[in-house]
Amino acid sequence: MESDASFHGNSNEVDWENRSLTELVDYIENYHHDYMSEALPRFFELMELAKRHPDSEGSKIFKALQHFSSLLAEGYINHARREENLLFPYIREMEAYASGDKEQLEDAEAGGLIFKSMASIDNEHDQIIDTLTRMKAKEVVAQMPEDAPEPFGELHKIVLEIAADLKNHAQLEDKYLFPRAVELEKNLGLH
Ligand SMILES: [Fe+2]
Ligand SMILES: [Fe+2]
Repeated sequence: MESDASFHGNSNEVDWENRSLTELVDYIENYHHDYMSEALPRFFELMELAKRHPDSEGSKIFKALQHFSSLLAEGYINHARREENLLFPYIREMEAYASGDKEQLEDAEAGGLIFKSMASIDNEHDQIIDTLTRMKAKEVVAQMPEDAPEPFGELHKIVLEIAADLKNHAQLEDKYLFPRAVELEKNLGLH
């Protein structure tokens, strides 16, 4: 879960407007996507333990987190995979092409890819943020005292961490990454 050394600390302190899109994409992958790949399997494991917990308090908490959990399992994972396999490599390539480090875009067919993907990206980010808001992560986990027996103590910590990370993650992409990538495509005449 280490971020790039030059950006250590709060990503809000970095002036993303003046960093390259490649640096931003690297940061999002190395920090947010990597964090989620480590945190999610543990979160799902803890949910399984919570489900099997004998007392009714355990099943109440499991139910409260169930929608969040399925959104992560079905929505987030595919979303992040599409960013890593398709959108981010294309943004890096486009920037290399724009700066003259690359002679041509390898996949000319992909022209306008970000512009064409914006509706679904926005929609998926909205779903994540809506679920976080509706779940009211803090209220849900407030039912679990920090010194609650396992798995609830760790579940408490990880839900708060994931919720905070997802919020910053979506904000970086919505505010800095995708609007600038669409602009770059436009400047390159790709849409
Ligand atoms: Fe992402
Ligand atoms: Fe995203």
